[in-house]
Amino acid sequence: MKKVNFTEMKNGTKEDYQLLEKYEKDFERQTADRILKYLASQTSTLEGYQITRLEHSLQAATRAYKNGESEEMVVATLIHDIGDDLAPMNHSQYAASILRPYVSEKTYETILELTILLLIYCTKH
Ligand SMILES: [Fe+2]
Repeated sequence: MKKVNFTEMKNGTKEDYQLLEKYEKDFERQTADRILKYLASQTSTLEGYQITRLEHSLQAATRAYKNGESEEMVVATLIHDIGDDLAPMNHSQYAASILRPYVSEKTYETILELTILLLIYCTKH
């Protein structure tokens, strides 16, 4: 793979930055594949739960599908917990941020508010 010639950004040439832009566009086009690969790796869970994160994600997306939600919402539901490993206190914001460039405001807001809804649900029990 071709690389830039600079070691400090300030020394980059037009050709260097065109090369980086090409690689970044290629990387961006592969985002869905990386998300699905990560999702498939979620075969463990937090202590205390009976199912893995992957199973939970599939259950949630299946429920969204059976509830007649849009394809966009079903996909959003599928990855709604994808940030739980790295952002356990605000994982819905993490997932919402991943989705934001690709989904409607309604879907973004729905995923964004999941942590709040979960806190409300958990404190009622
Ligand atoms: Fe969840």
